[in-house]
Amino acid sequence: MIGQFLADRDRARAAKDPWAELCVLASLDGTCPRLRILVLRDLDGGLGVFYSEHSSKAGQLVLTPQTELLTYWDSIKVQYRLCVTLAPMPREVIDTHWPRRPAISKALDWLYETKPQGSVIESDRSLDQLLAQSDAKDVPPPGASGAMIHIVNMERLQLQADGKHLRERFDQTTGARETLVP
Ligand SMILES: Cc1cc2nc3c(=O)[nH]c(=O)nc-3n(C[C@H](O)[C@H](O)[C@H](O)COP(=O)(O)O)c2cc1C
Repeated sequence: MIGQFLADRDRARAAKDPWAELCVLASLDGTCPRLRILVLRDLDGGLGVFYSEHSSKAGQLVLTPQTELLTYWDSIKVQYRLCVTLAPMPREVIDTHWPRRPAISKALDWLYETKPQGSVIESDRSLDQLLAQSDAKDVPPPGASGAMIHIVNMERLQLQADGKHLRERFDQTTGARETLVP
């Protein structure tokens, strides 16, 4: 099942699709769905996403570890809606990948230790000032975090020029593949 997803993603990459590396991940803030774009990473153990443990999404995803992940690659006209469960990112994966982050991303990760992502900045203190005061080091901060993604089922929608789109559902547990009314 994941094979089809990865093959489509490779086609999107080959077509230089600007969304080939991205996904939209949902969470629930109380009863309100929240969506955000994240980089979808190919890791040794499968797919994963990186984020700060101090962010709003981290808390929301702990409460709703089963959620939906969306991709759309316009270059190949394919949408995926993945029902996924999230598992904590192993520390060794963070330790391997964090050093490759751009310098500003590292600095922000350290800032989040004292000023969580999404917190309000006092109007007299600019982000530059906060970054200058943050005690950034060249090792991952405790809050550098993320999740490994396990696919429960997924829907693939292949747009067709004639409008008669191909919609299929794949179930990871049963291996079933069904065609749906688009
Ligand atoms: C192209 C793009 C890529 C992004 N990649 C990430 C990412 O990999 N990790 C991340 O935490 N935020 C990423 N963001 C920022 C998130 O969309 C979001 O604004 C931020 O994580 C705060 O989300 P939250 O308030 O729901 O916790 C990205 C945003 C864009 C536009």
